[in-house]
Amino acid sequence: MGEIIAIINQKGGVGKTTTAVNLASALAIENKKVLIIDMDPQANATTGFGIEKGVLENTIYSVLSEDKTLSDVIMHTDIKNLDLVPSNIHLSGAEIELSKVIGPYKILKESTKGFEHVYDYILIDVPPSLGLLTINSLVAADSVIIPIQAEFYALEGMADLIEAIELVEKRLESPSPIKGILLTLYDSRTRLGREVYKNVKEYFGETENIFKTTIPRNVRLAEAPSHGMPCIIYDEESIGTMAYKKLAREIINMDDSDES
Ligand SMILES: Nc1ncnc2c1ncn2[C@@H]1O[C@H](COP(=O)(O)OP(=O)(O)O)[C@@H](O)[C@H]1O
Ligand SMILES: [Mg+2]
Repeated sequence: MGEIIAIINQKGGVGKTTTAVNLASALAIENKKVLIIDMDPQANATTGFGIEKGVLENTIYSVLSEDKTLSDVIMHTDIKNLDLVPSNIHLSGAEIELSKVIGPYKILKESTKGFEHVYDYILIDVPPSLGLLTINSLVAADSVIIPIQAEFYALEGMADLIEAIELVEKRLESPSPIKGILLTLYDSRTRLGREVYKNVKEYFGETENIFKTTIPRNVRLAEAPSHGMPCIIYDEESIGTMAYKKLAREIINMDDSDES
């Protein structure tokens, strides 16, 4: 059975999309069958695969507005084993439209039903808000990965995010345990980096998994999207690529030992 994982943090610029794109690619290269669902109207994950979002007719918006099924909108990427459900700016209207339908929280979950038998991993790239698109992502997800940028205000807003996850668990009976906290844009050589790591450990360390793998600041990761490819393809040897490959193996090992 596949696992649906939401890459979530209502803060922008913490590395959610970079993680979704490169972790999905790394898992696919490890021979896992992977689907990435772009739930952000900014569609950075979509363009990150070189897909021109402006001309797309079928996107995740078509699914949420119930015109199409998920199968109708799945696209293959240039990477073997990796499929994508794209997004574009039309999705920004969905937030308001969803609020008018009955049961606006479960539409994504219903549309992904059955696909856990098709894919080993479904990664959702969640937008930077706690609105209906994010709630839909949480309800659909079996677990979440929270990227945290190693900077001074790293944990600001974390209480709100945890509260949202708990509310979805309680009110919508849909638990999404934290699969792991991921330190991004991390530099262990700086005092700030080490300080943030320590704070994150104090905040989560007793109860939650903090991934052993951390993602360093690496310019190749930032350059790759403008070439329309994941860093893993753009620069195989870069430290950014290595880090996401390591994260993929950490996750696969975690899941293998859970099963045995
Ligand atoms: N590890 C990294 N090293 C260098 N740049 C990064 C790294 N992770 C993300 N970035 C860059 O930082 C910006 C924000 O990252 P992004 O993944 O889009 O964050 P989010 O999806 O959380 O808003 C992007 O320009 C991205 O290319
Ligand atoms: Mg993003």
